[in-house]
Amino acid sequence: MPIIQSREVTAAARLDNVRYAIRDLACVADEVIAQGHKVLPLNVGDPLNFDFQTPPHIIEAAYKAMRDGKNGYAPSPGIPEALEAIRGEAARKGITTVRDVFVTSGVSETVDLCISALVNPGEDILTPRPDYPLYSAVLCKLGIALNAYDLNEDDAWQPELADIERKLTPRTRAIVLINPNNPTGSLCSREMLEKIADLARRHNLVVFSDEIYDKLILPDSNGDATTPHIAFAAVAPDVPCITFGGMSKNYLVPGWRIGWGIVSGDAAAIKPYTEGIHRLLRARLCANHPEQYAIKPALEGPQDHLVEVKRKLRSRRDLTQKWCESTPRVSCVAPRGAFYAFPKIDIPESDEVFVKELIRQKHVMVVHGSGFGQKPGTQHFRIVFLPDEKTLTRAYAGIADFIHNRYPTK
Ligand SMILES: Cc1ncc(COP(=O)(O)O)c(C=O)c1O
Repeated sequence: MPIIQSREVTAAARLDNVRYAIRDLACVADEVIAQGHKVLPLNVGDPLNFDFQTPPHIIEAAYKAMRDGKNGYAPSPGIPEALEAIRGEAARKGITTVRDVFVTSGVSETVDLCISALVNPGEDILTPRPDYPLYSAVLCKLGIALNAYDLNEDDAWQPELADIERKLTPRTRAIVLINPNNPTGSLCSREMLEKIADLARRHNLVVFSDEIYDKLILPDSNGDATTPHIAFAAVAPDVPCITFGGMSKNYLVPGWRIGWGIVSGDAAAIKPYTEGIHRLLRARLCANHPEQYAIKPALEGPQDHLVEVKRKLRSRRDLTQKWCESTPRVSCVAPRGAFYAFPKIDIPESDEVFVKELIRQKHVMVVHGSGFGQKPGTQHFRIVFLPDEKTLTRAYAGIADFIHNRYPTK
């Protein structure tokens, strides 16, 4: 009689707090699809699901690398020509104190690696609330308690400095900025970056500045495009900082898994930490190899696709904002970057119930604000405004109708 191991294999308890907002919703969407309906997906930030195309010269570069036999392991930090191109990009971003650069399998790996190389048990890092859920997932994985600071909706979702000061402990090692932000679409002002730099200096913090959407900046609703993206490391050249960047969003290749980190700040201060990062870079061998040959052509070649991407995003952002402004119980800080809007909803039940019922009744899928760890007592949902205007109009009509029927106007 063969022995059959049938005892349940439980997952590590430290994963209990890892949020699965999008996965939970997928179960509800599957129910609806099984009933024969089509679901309108306004939940996944992948431009390639919609009418956006990868620039052909980038595809050519990766294809050529494969044909040329660049299919073995790459050097752990990345191939030299990609590293040089990333240094050039750092210079264009105004970062003058670059100490190191390295290539990763997507910004997702940069996040994991930079946090893992820094934080000891009992220490913490400050993450924004709401946040991109990977940050809290990585912290849970490492057994590090969450220490979230609020973004202030009444101040265009800028970090709330007083809350940061309140949350700082002697064991806080770093602060995460996501700029432009997912899920709010907000941009950090120069004044705010300067204040955060000041705080980092006073408390010896490393700054993780996630700038994966830095080329997707939209003009404000008056068409004023003068607010450029400002890199944190350009404002604070002395502060130990890792700027996170990548190809997924700006160059429309999320499936390639190419990201990077730019290390800046005082050379002596950042050295031991950089060595720790390199230990982890070596341990995981390398990032995807042939795709790294597309980094230089992407960063230094034609940027024409961005004009078209931003034209579409601006029109879809404006449509989204107009809908938010004209729909009872909905209000929204106008997004200035990336492709997300994070409207507030004034409803007498949780935003999770709202979102699940919306999928069931109107077959439109957005993500509940609580899935991003929002401020308690508030309700929001995140819209991905990547679909074309016709699809968005249909989705918004469905959401407005749902709100009207479920919550009779006060
Ligand atoms: C703020 C933010 N950081 C990092 C990532 C991960 O990006 P990548 O595809 O490079 O792993 C995302 C993806 O949506 C994101 O929104």
